[in-house]
Amino acid sequence: MSDPSDAGSAAATGATPRAIEHHYDVGREFYRLWLDTEMVYSCALWDEPLTDDPVDDALESAQQAKLAWHATAADADDASRVLDVGCGWGANLRYLTGARGVAHATGLTLSSDQAAAVTPSESIAVRLEDWRDHRPSEPYDAIISIGAFEHFARQDLDDAARQQVYAHFFAMSAGWLKPGGRLSLQSIAYEDFDPSSGPVSSFFTEDIFPESSLPRLGQIITAAEPFFRLVAYRSDATHYERTLHVWQRRLEAHSEAAIALVGRSTYRRYVRYLRVSRAMFDRRVCTLYRLAFERRPTAPKAETPPPEHPSKEP
Ligand SMILES: C[S@@+](CC[C@H](N)C(=O)[O-])C[C@H]1O[C@@H](n2cnc3c(N)ncnc32)[C@H](O)[C@@H]1O
Repeated sequence: MSDPSDAGSAAATGATPRAIEHHYDVGREFYRLWLDTEMVYSCALWDEPLTDDPVDDALESAQQAKLAWHATAADADDASRVLDVGCGWGANLRYLTGARGVAHATGLTLSSDQAAAVTPSESIAVRLEDWRDHRPSEPYDAIISIGAFEHFARQDLDDAARQQVYAHFFAMSAGWLKPGGRLSLQSIAYEDFDPSSGPVSSFFTEDIFPESSLPRLGQIITAAEPFFRLVAYRSDATHYERTLHVWQRRLEAHSEAAIALVGRSTYRRYVRYLRVSRAMFDRRVCTLYRLAFERRPTAPKAETPPPEHPSKEP
């Protein structure tokens, strides 16, 4: 396992391992109280139509349905090699190799708690590594990245620098893929909000997800355009509102255990984060995109990484 703790490229343009660990290394046992049994930490995919009544909290099956959507969109069935950029606690690696006939799945994460939670095997490998530093020995058939793109560009990047980071991600992904290979991407993005007027909430950018920021759909599409064709698209704000609602109810139902694990102030911070996030999806400040891309035969080769952003480290 490589150690990205001094990863200069990530420090320059996206969330550093320290910022990632601020959020994800609160402790697996804490997240276990309110996530599904497989510990998937991203928007689920619910059967439609969604009602306002969150009584149906079939979170486990909705998370599996989300993983299924991405595996199909990435054309990953029976693939030899699949990459998961931002693999969390490994649910997608287990799903791909266990249910979709994938021979080998590699996951990247910046969280040492997450990397330690994934049991390596002949078919699963996890790397504590920034995607900017990933240099696979062989190409992949498919790439999936769920809920990680939001960490790729720091809040303080200007538009040009942000665009460069996103383009660099698509260039690297195209370079890792076999010709015609697919990338399935899930990301939150701003919807009816103009981020040029400042961050939507310093609570998010400082307390919850430091050194991270949301893209806009146009930025994603523009960055992908030279390298990929867009082949599938979903906008699922209501699905994230539902997911957050179920997480919030589960966390509140386990308040005593949560407080015993992480303390009252962290517990309260997470309940607030889930509640405020729900309101943001409800009001369409942001939405949730699931986008599948197919590598263009004409995709240009990845160039050297963009120059480091001059902003100082926190
Ligand atoms: C919200 S979690 C999503 C995890 C998982 N995909 C899921 O759906 O449960 C975001 C993940 O992205 C990873 N991540 C963020 N920035 C990254 C980077 N630059 N390189 C690799 N992984 C990164 C984090 O370590 C974490 O595993």
